[in-house]
Amino acid sequence: MRHIFQQGTDVTAPVLVLLHGTGGTERDLLPLAQAISPASSVLSVRGNVLENGMPRFFRRLAEGIFDEEDLIFRTKELNDFLDEAAVEHGFDRRNVVAIGYSNGANIAGSLLFHYPDALRGAILHHPMVPLRGIQLPDLTDTPIFIGAGRNDPICSPEETEELQKLLGEAGAEIEVHWENAGHQLTRSEVDAAGTWFKANLA
Ligand code: MLT
Repeated sequence: MRHIFQQGTDVTAPVLVLLHGTGGTERDLLPLAQAISPASSVLSVRGNVLENGMPRFFRRLAEGIFDEEDLIFRTKELNDFLDEAAVEHGFDRRNVVAIGYSNGANIAGSLLFHYPDALRGAILHHPMVPLRGIQLPDLTDTPIFIGAGRNDPICSPEETEELQKLLGEAGAEIEVHWENAGHQLTRSEVDAAGTWFKANLA
């Protein structure tokens, strides 16, 4: 997959995997890595799917309706890519924390839904429930930050709470941070994610 790798100054710090929103690129979330863990190595990935020229991590049939077959295929593709990138760039595959926004948060959520050891932890900015009706793996000791907007028209508060419940039932330790905002990623949400990261993963 197309990506940027930046070697960090602290090889013991979690490797941050950055996953952009619809229409983004692997450059978009680089400032988040700086804000959250500046000493970490960074692997920032571009989604392999194009929707009217806009990169995404999996196909959708309509706004909020996912192509589940493609989602499952792309989730495995990303997990395999993380395995290969760890070998190529020489980082610890078990020390990977995802930071995703919107569509990128949804594929990160799907990694958590499908693979027990894909991520050590995750920061999910405005995620949805990636799919329903599957048994989640054991996510004990997996800290997850969810950033959500009370007025988000794409991820409703009810869907955020459903995601929190599903991940919590799988054993994950979850913090939900609410903003009085919509789908956009605000500075105060990033600051809250940084504080959470220092308490849970640094
Ligand atoms: C998705 O398609 O993953 C969600 O609707 C969020 C987005 O618009 O990217």
